[in-house]
Amino acid sequence: MSADTIAHNRKRFDFSGVDSIWLFGYGSLIYKVDFPFLEKRPATIHGWQRRFWQGSHDHRGTPEAPGRVVTLIENPDARCKGMAYRVSPKVFEHLDVREKNGYLRFTTKMTFDDGSHAEGLVYIATEDNEAFLGHAPEADIARQIAGANGPSGPNSEYLLRLAESLRTLGDACPHTFAIETHLRSATESDT
Ligand code: SIN
Repeated sequence: MSADTIAHNRKRFDFSGVDSIWLFGYGSLIYKVDFPFLEKRPATIHGWQRRFWQGSHDHRGTPEAPGRVVTLIENPDARCKGMAYRVSPKVFEHLDVREKNGYLRFTTKMTFDDGSHAEGLVYIATEDNEAFLGHAPEADIARQIAGANGPSGPNSEYLLRLAESLRTLGDACPHTFAIETHLRSATESDT
């Protein structure tokens, strides 16, 4: 599948008659909220794990030197905490452009902190998209992130802001924190 998913996403979900819908964010959508929302609540999804396995050619890297950003990978034993936003369907006109480098919208069941559930939409970059990079050792991922920069800023900023947000949310994501540790020690040994 082509990495540009705008047209795919526009065909995926019929918003007619829908006033508001939940969106689940697990990456930059947790901390970079450049869209209006009606309500915001921490939520968890089950059966998915966060991984820095998606290439970023448009935000945190370039086509020549892609960065790495997160996607979700299926794992029946995993859970992923993030932030849910109740939004107007209009918001997806903006978000489909922001998330165009390989992400498709899927529906998912979300569990809020009080145990109640709702259905929401989540952007996932599946492994058949052209920008998918896949598994690499966490130290190598940290090195790639340390060297990548794109129109939205340094890839390291994406990682560090996400790690900080996950601490605030109480999501102990060993993968994100391991890459953060590698990045910080590489930066310290450079100084
Ligand atoms: C998300 O945050 O939910 C999707 C991935 C990203 O934009 O970082």
